[in-house]
Amino acid sequence: MAKFVFIFLFFLVLGSQAYHAVDVLDHGAIGNGHTDDSKAFDSAFRMACDSSSRTATIVVPGRKSFFLQPLVFNGKQCRPSTITFQIDGDIVAPSDPNAWHGCDGDDDKLCHAWIEFKHFDGLYIQGSGTINGRGRKWWRRHSCHKNACKRTVPTGMMISDSNDVHLLGLTFEDSPKMHIAFEDSTRVYAYQLTIKAPADSPNTDGIHIQHCSHVFIDHCFIGTGDDCVSIGDGSAHLEITNVECGPGHGISIGSLGKHKERETVESVHVRNATFTGTQNGVRIKTWQGGKGYASNMIFENIFFHGARYPIIIDQYYCDHEHCTNQTSAVHINNITYMNIEGTSEKEIAVKLACSQPVPCRNIIMKNINLQREEDQHKLKETSSFCFNVRGRSSGNVFPKVPCLYVDKNL
Ligand SMILES: *[C@@H]1O[C@H](CO)[C@@H](O)[C@H](O)[C@H]1NC(C)=O
Ligand SMILES: *[C@@H]1O[C@H](CO)[C@@H](O)[C@H](O)[C@H]1NC(C)=O
Ligand SMILES: *[C@@H]1O[C@H](CO)[C@@H](O)[C@H](O)[C@H]1NC(C)=O
Repeated sequence: MAKFVFIFLFFLVLGSQAYHAVDVLDHGAIGNGHTDDSKAFDSAFRMACDSSSRTATIVVPGRKSFFLQPLVFNGKQCRPSTITFQIDGDIVAPSDPNAWHGCDGDDDKLCHAWIEFKHFDGLYIQGSGTINGRGRKWWRRHSCHKNACKRTVPTGMMISDSNDVHLLGLTFEDSPKMHIAFEDSTRVYAYQLTIKAPADSPNTDGIHIQHCSHVFIDHCFIGTGDDCVSIGDGSAHLEITNVECGPGHGISIGSLGKHKERETVESVHVRNATFTGTQNGVRIKTWQGGKGYASNMIFENIFFHGARYPIIIDQYYCDHEHCTNQTSAVHINNITYMNIEGTSEKEIAVKLACSQPVPCRNIIMKNINLQREEDQHKLKETSSFCFNVRGRSSGNVFPKVPCLYVDKNL
């Protein structure tokens, strides 16, 4: 008996050194959905961060709704090698933009994100909770968009300057702008997330990736008013698998090369994706006049239910009226589309509009079958558009993409 007690105590002591849990309720959080719980979250995080245990967990318990103002969790000084946010309760933002702290006036730096995590090495954000950015009133203010609005609209959750980041199981809803942004980070895992916002909500991308490498997105459901996944400059080695996308604009690389910048994206592998009622499917978009490259990508095992443009490369991207043709462009090279089927909304199911001075190279189409969806299950043939593309088709490819050819001089 004494031996058992000893062993028990031994594990208790060992356990307390290895693992430390801090409940936000013990730090004054109320969880009634309207009392500001930001200070309690901050205080719980500081305690976890100062813990001498190997791993520390901030517990956000279920069946409660926590109201948070914009908040930054900075992991720079944290002692545990892993910090976990176990979020089983819901988290809500102020519903009125005017009630957001630090978002008044022109100092946008204060208000670029709602919940921000930075400088972590080993971060888990997980649980069954819902993170609701309550963006409806922000979206309405967008009616002044196209540069007329001075104020920045905040991103829902921003994770930056971090390594070994795991985002698991959570639901994200109705962010004012993009739901999740990963920036300047490596080894990022986003698994089993649900992200949803209305189809007409502006700029509410599901997951945005910028300056990150080794990013893994798996088993996510994303339906919003903008890109399901958008991949910006400096992104490399991304694996996106088993994503259900729609409504939304699809999975987008770019836009790259705005303001004649040099931008790069490479090694992107999209597998097992389903697109339902999306504007685009898999899209690469670049501005005229840019530099850099978008290369080494594979899009495979993809199913479309009525996407407007299932496969699209657009090197003439322009979000205003006055883009003129330029002599340089982001180079697009080594892009494979393979095992792709389903329906498109428009006749042109494959659109490859490559730049005049810089052709797209090594574009490979293999086993593609896209039909146009007419009313009531009537399917019609689709066609393709392409301009200045080098590459080849193999297997059955419908629509035919006759402009692909191999340039022997290359
Ligand atoms: C793709 O989907 C198939 C069928 O659902 C599954 O067997 C396969 O493991 C998936 N591939 C990946 C990489 O998840
Ligand atoms: C083309 O891209 C694929 C996918 O990233 C890569 O595996 C392959 O090595 C690339 N081919 C060349 C010739 O670079
Ligand atoms: C730009 O170049 C494309 C391809 O050659 C051409 O179709 C388009 O008309 C040009 N646009 C302008 C504004 O010159």
